[in-house]
Amino acid sequence: MGNTPTSQSTRTICVTSGKGGVGKTTLSVNLGLAMAAEGHKVVLLDGDLGLANINVQLGISPEYNIMDVVKGRKTLAQIVCHTPFGMDFIAGGTGIPQLANLGEADQTAFMDAMGSLTGYDVMIIDTGAGIGANVIRFVLAADDIVVVTTPEPTAMTDAYGIVKTIALSRPKPPITLLINRAASEKHAQQVVSRLTAVTKRFMSGLSLELLGHVPIDPLIEKSIYQQRPHILVNPNAKSVALIRAAAKRILDPDYQTPVTGLSGFFQRVMSFVSDR
Ligand SMILES: Nc1ncnc2c1ncn2[C@@H]1O[C@H](COP(=O)(O)OP(=O)(O)O)[C@@H](O)[C@H]1O
Ligand SMILES: [Mg+2]
Repeated sequence: MGNTPTSQSTRTICVTSGKGGVGKTTLSVNLGLAMAAEGHKVVLLDGDLGLANINVQLGISPEYNIMDVVKGRKTLAQIVCHTPFGMDFIAGGTGIPQLANLGEADQTAFMDAMGSLTGYDVMIIDTGAGIGANVIRFVLAADDIVVVTTPEPTAMTDAYGIVKTIALSRPKPPITLLINRAASEKHAQQVVSRLTAVTKRFMSGLSLELLGHVPIDPLIEKSIYQQRPHILVNPNAKSVALIRAAAKRILDPDYQTPVTGLSGFFQRVMSFVSDR
């Protein structure tokens, strides 16, 4: 076995989209579980303020969130939910927008708390849709950005919008595309080509890679009603094999972007905010 991960060695992967309802939460949960099944230590951070539905998908209801840590009511260890599925979970809740308004002492306390979050190989951040300030600072701070879109024209237009915003604020953004509800890999590649054709107009150096694709699968919908993660209840589904492949790919040593660790990540999350 390798070295025990510290907060310095945690890869941060932000899952985002232009349009809502394209499958960010579903894919964040299942990608995380796929990584956990491969032996990676994974923590999922719910960064979506509006719809905290990771808890729904995992069938757990966290009592506390990041705000409790910021306010010193709880330690970080006390707000981490250990799910029965081998992956941990942190509710961002109202603490996420509050990060923007912390005084220096609170910021330091928060950073110290985050620095104590050790032992994880990967933190996946599930964000809300769109280009709001709360989403963008996670996106700008993460080691990897997974933009989820479907082949639908409206979703693609919004994906283009978020890619453009990211690219204008972050040089050489580490974006990969995960195409949900795609009929085939060829179909997913067509989506990537179409997006690339338009992004090229404003960012010649920007290359958008396909991380993977997931077909429409009625079992996904069903698993959400059951509040049991798809990958666990339907391990033999084709969509599960494709989710596993995407999870493997993003952690593939040959393609990996550099890891900056959790302290760096949260420092950037807060500095983007105070710059505004
Ligand atoms: N590949 C898929 N096939 C079928 N249904 C899907 C698929 N991906 C997501 N869904 C369904 O779409 C809905 C929205 O997904 P969700 O992950 O909540 O999106 P987001 O987090 O982007 O808003 C959920 O009800 C989910 O069951
Ligand atoms: Mg969601």
